[in-house]
Amino acid sequence: MKEIQSYIAEHKDRFLNELINLLKIPSVSADTAYKNDVLKTADAIKTSLENAGCDLVEICKTDGYPIVYGEKIIDKNLPTVLVYGHYDVQPADPIELWDSPPYEPVIKKTEKHPEGAIFARGACDDKGQMYMHVKALEFMTSTNQLPCNVKFMIEGEEEVGSVNLSTFVKNNQDKLKNDVILISDTGMIANNIPSITTGLRGLSYVEVEVTGPNRDLHSGLYGGAVANPINVLTKMIASLHDNNNHITIPGFYDHVEELSKEERAEMAKAPFNLNNYKKALNIDAVYGEEGYTTNERNSIRPTLDVNGIWGGYTGEGAKTVIASKAYAKISMRLVPNQDWKNITQLFKTHFESIAPKGVTVKVTPHHGGQGYVTPIDNIGYKAASKAYEETFGKTPIPQRSGGSIPIVALFEQELKSKTILMGFGLDSDAIHSPNEHFGIFNYLKGIETIPYFYKYFTELSK
Ligand code: BES
Ligand code: MN
Ligand code: MN
Repeated sequence: MKEIQSYIAEHKDRFLNELINLLKIPSVSADTAYKNDVLKTADAIKTSLENAGCDLVEICKTDGYPIVYGEKIIDKNLPTVLVYGHYDVQPADPIELWDSPPYEPVIKKTEKHPEGAIFARGACDDKGQMYMHVKALEFMTSTNQLPCNVKFMIEGEEEVGSVNLSTFVKNNQDKLKNDVILISDTGMIANNIPSITTGLRGLSYVEVEVTGPNRDLHSGLYGGAVANPINVLTKMIASLHDNNNHITIPGFYDHVEELSKEERAEMAKAPFNLNNYKKALNIDAVYGEEGYTTNERNSIRPTLDVNGIWGGYTGEGAKTVIASKAYAKISMRLVPNQDWKNITQLFKTHFESIAPKGVTVKVTPHHGGQGYVTPIDNIGYKAASKAYEETFGKTPIPQRSGGSIPIVALFEQELKSKTILMGFGLDSDAIHSPNEHFGIFNYLKGIETIPYFYKYFTELSK
């Protein structure tokens, strides 16, 4: 790629400022209070795609937030890359834990990012990573080096389960026709250890409600004589893991793919330092399923976690009360071959069955999705690998991630193409947490690497 480095050096400040402006719009899809901001962000993405050289850009309406679609078709006989990303972000709370306001981006240096990082909600997940693709396209079109066709599909509901995107994909197979799907919405091992994500976990997300007496009760007058929904709920939740931290739901592991010794040995080669891991999180020990390493526990093994739990009195001081109801939100991360709808059903049946007399239990499924693994012997992976070699000077390590992008499995099913996950974030970038950030090095390296993917993918397709 002619002059990519000098192009980036010349336009670096503008690239950063454009991203900063995008990060100022609080596009929180989960909270309707931000509706206008989410819509405004879609408009901003549309303008940026037009400026980057797309011939056609549309805001496609859905039953929820719109999907921004853009394309530049240079020759029907050349391959087509479909870029997917999302412009919505997670809520910023707890806001008081941010060192600077989440929608007023600032650049600060960190230990992992000596060149500086942009701090803002969405900096890494996914505005920063998505925008690398827009700037990579700008470079290729403005220097006449776009080697193939490109389509963009940027949605505004990823953080709430991509419900309307599924319908859009099913109804627009022709429009979205492609040879490979490219996504930057994952991470890599370290800035000097590039990696390509080859797997994502599936997800089943449920909410549970335990009801005891028909009203809140005085905990002295009634305590000990009726089931306390919070006591019961915590006991039920605790019983979902055994002493070895295996999940106790009958049938939960039935279809779990077991990796061979060789595959596990291969995985163990990825650089990982347990002491640094513990130090970064300020914990004195790791915790998890017996018989598996930390890297296995958070990628190839399924899990069950409480994400939130509430009920009773949580205000200042003490109130003596037995609450009528207790609630929890629970997520299960799934691995290939586990079907998320089946797992949701298994959870529901089991959870209802373990409820003691004296309470009623309601399980409400939220969203979910299938896991994904991609082989590394296809030209998409090879093109990505060569691209990293070019810009990092190292062969990237294939690595399965613990996170989920449920729509990826649907892409394969509906569009029949492989997804390549070229993520440039770090685990320490605090996505979904206070003080989310994205390294300037990572942002610019992404912009530099992406055009090489296009180049090698086109060459390898011949
Ligand atoms: N970009 C993340 C997923 C991710 C991050 C995968 C890092 C691998 C490495 C995505 O935006 C996300 O947060 N997904 C959700 C699921 C979704 C249905 C809300 C998740 O993983 O919790
Ligand atoms: Mn994301
Ligand atoms: Mn996310």
